[in-house]
Amino acid sequence: MAEPGASQIQLPTAFHYLNNDFLCENTPVHLIENELENTTSGEDDCRPATPLYIYSQAQLQRNIQGYKNAIQSAKMLDRIHIFYAVKANANLHLMDLVRKQNCGAVTVSGYELQAALKTGFVPEMILLNGNGKQIWEIRLALKNGCMLNVDSLFDAENIISVARELQKPARVLIRVNPGLEQSSTPVHSYLSTALKNSKFGVPLHQFDQVLELLKAEHLIQLVGLHCHVGSTIRDATVYATVTRTLLDIRQKLITQGCTNLKYLDIGGGLGIDYYHGTNQGQSPLSTTGDLIQAIASLLPPDVEVIIEPGRSIVGNTGILVTKILGIKKSPDGGKQFVVVDAAMNDLIRPSFYQAYHHVLPVRKTDSSEDVYDIVGPVCESGDFLAVDRRLTQQPVKGELLAIMDVGAYGIAMASNYNMRGRAMEVMVDGNKWKIIRRRENFDSLVRTMID
Ligand code: LLP
Repeated sequence: MAEPGASQIQLPTAFHYLNNDFLCENTPVHLIENELENTTSGEDDCRPATPLYIYSQAQLQRNIQGYKNAIQSAKMLDRIHIFYAVKANANLHLMDLVRKQNCGAVTVSGYELQAALKTGFVPEMILLNGNGKQIWEIRLALKNGCMLNVDSLFDAENIISVARELQKPARVLIRVNPGLEQSSTPVHSYLSTALKNSKFGVPLHQFDQVLELLKAEHLIQLVGLHCHVGSTIRDATVYATVTRTLLDIRQKLITQGCTNLKYLDIGGGLGIDYYHGTNQGQSPLSTTGDLIQAIASLLPPDVEVIIEPGRSIVGNTGILVTKILGIKKSPDGGKQFVVVDAAMNDLIRPSFYQAYHHVLPVRKTDSSEDVYDIVGPVCESGDFLAVDRRLTQQPVKGELLAIMDVGAYGIAMASNYNMRGRAMEVMVDGNKWKIIRRRENFDSLVRTMID
């Protein structure tokens, strides 16, 4: 059911076909679904196993190793640190695998920070970011010795007051908003974060004020500067620009007596190949190696870099498996809808950003191709997973589809809209697999509403 020419398309290596069956590593996807179907159908609500998130452990490790190999080739071991952006996928089992690869974690809420602590990330390698940190979240970070990014004047005031209250030192970086033009970060406007009118970071006109405030408090240790320009970035030279911008500011700060500016945190945001080669019109996609190369030669010897990848670590590790509920046609040769059991509440990226996710059949057959919208059961016309998609295989009721590259911002952005329970998650390791999150049932949804 792939796009034309799909047989030549390079799949992420963990997901591939063998004898027409779609496999995650060595495990046929339909076998996982089948086994779960048999073991869960006895539950009170008799819900099927789908929609179902399936992740590949090997792909996750390969993605991190890709960064590490690039860092090693650039002779930057111990100089470039990978801090996983927990927001992309906060499943504790998955985070544990990331942590075992000696990564740090960047978090944007108290609970993300707690999740990082719970999975054993070293507190000194946990960073709390965010433009609206609350006092309890700052307290949690400082009590545990985590670093914080200062996002605004009021954020600086809050961090200082919590540091005083706890009499604890606070290691902070200032998040800079360099006020870029939209044209310099050609990504969806929702995914740009360092524009003049972005809500993130300290704008340049307030920078000195924030700096003076921080310098005046002896409990504050200013250890670096941060900038995250956006997400789904295809061109790694953006990171060179960010690095140069931060190095310039750092130089000025050194002349003003800031001598402990060890870190440049250049954020995350590197894009991944969502199109699987099907959209020839796109600009070339830089690799993790390109990113590391783009910055390595710029770094003075006393500077260490933090990178905050989320998507490029977990994006292509996950698929969303969904069952076809039926096919429906509009009159007069209008739309053909494939109605599936996954919806915008399970994966909001297509509805929210018009994002493309490749769709593949879990069992390949020979049949005719046509154009369809793949839509879910949620009561919104904007509930779609793919629009005007040419499928090379006729969709059949009861068959399974795999929505590709949903490891990042898939389950993490899932909701209970229409009182739908969130999906189950499974981790595959070779020919073994385990459930890493049970699906939500009616009780999970009402538990917090009644005694
Ligand atoms: N660091 C900061 C400060 C961020 O704001 C983000 C993402 C990251 C790192 C990680 O970016 P990544 O490497 O994952 O692209 N929901 C959207 C993405 C929002 C990203 C928000 N910030 C999506 O589904 O594409």
